[in-house]
Amino acid sequence: MIPVARPFLGEEEIAAVAEVMQSGMLAQGEVVTAFEEEFAAYCETKHGVAVNSGTAALHAALLALGIGPGDEVIVPSFTFIATATSVSMCGARPVMVDVEPSTYTIDPEAVRSALSPATKAVIGVHLFGQPFDIDPVLKICEEKGLVLIEDCAQAHGATYRGKKVGGFGDVGCFSFYPTKNMTSGEGGMVTMDDAELASHIRRIINHGQSDKYLHTELGYNFRMTNIGAAIGRVQLGKLDAMNARRVANAEWYNSHIQSQGIATPVTRPGATHVYHQYVLDVDEECPLSRDGLMAYLREKDIGSAVHYPMPVHRQPLYAENGNGDSCPISDSASQHVLSLPVHPGVGREECLYIAEILNGVK
Ligand SMILES: Cc1ncc(COP(=O)(O)O)c(C=O)c1O
Repeated sequence: MIPVARPFLGEEEIAAVAEVMQSGMLAQGEVVTAFEEEFAAYCETKHGVAVNSGTAALHAALLALGIGPGDEVIVPSFTFIATATSVSMCGARPVMVDVEPSTYTIDPEAVRSALSPATKAVIGVHLFGQPFDIDPVLKICEEKGLVLIEDCAQAHGATYRGKKVGGFGDVGCFSFYPTKNMTSGEGGMVTMDDAELASHIRRIINHGQSDKYLHTELGYNFRMTNIGAAIGRVQLGKLDAMNARRVANAEWYNSHIQSQGIATPVTRPGATHVYHQYVLDVDEECPLSRDGLMAYLREKDIGSAVHYPMPVHRQPLYAENGNGDSCPISDSASQHVLSLPVHPGVGREECLYIAEILNGVK
């Protein structure tokens, strides 16, 4: 089976972990600090704060930005659940809005329509490796005095107007889960330019500690380990090369998949896509249903996946919000999307085989 996702690891990661093991300094320490500095430099931001997941990155960032009970935070409905649950974890209310039909990223017009006196922040998601349309969202945030959080969990190294994601909003929140464009095992990072905000997030992720055993606010243990950071540092060094392999696979698919009712992904002009996922749109013209196509691919030893089968506004967790039919594009996307293997471990022969199978669908 060609897996739909797989981390791209080598001897260097093993050696880096072994070095940390030998040092005896397993928890947060100098390796984490080095990773934070290197990752922030990569994202062209002044600071980076490492944490133990992308969810923790969002949760800690929202808390440090003052989001709490009574506040509303606008999020896209077509995303991984953590974009919304991190808001709920702060006691605030996520307000789900619809996405653009071509890129599935947050629709700036929908953001404007969802504004209320309780709106305090917007989380835009750079979905599948593609930046959302940052400028119009940034404009709304500036006009209304809202905080902008970039959920960069799927877009390490993607650019918008030639600048890396993670440095446009008040914060950028990354995940290093193993299937992401780079990994640290589990892990995450918050990027920002504001030194004060960085120190606040550092306190929140370390038991609210402002000095040794002095706890000035409610905090958590969201710290990254030196073991994770050692993997992350090696992976960061390979990130551009790994992304280039994803992009090459995606571009190859774009020019070779020609099958009735199957549309290949669209890249926003002025942005670069790093293809965390390569997502097809399978419509009613396709001889097989989306789920039928997925089963057919499985028979042919090709892994595929649906990101995401149920948009956030339909989740039972948020049923009481009464979101109903508020996000039709997200509803439709959840019925049509299908992700193909695009990760750096996929070679040209596998791309050829996958395209042949898809082009032969009758
Ligand atoms: C868009 C998005 N946001 C947040 C997260 C949460 O990251 P993690 O799984 O590292 O907690 C993910 C990870 O799957 C994600 O894809």
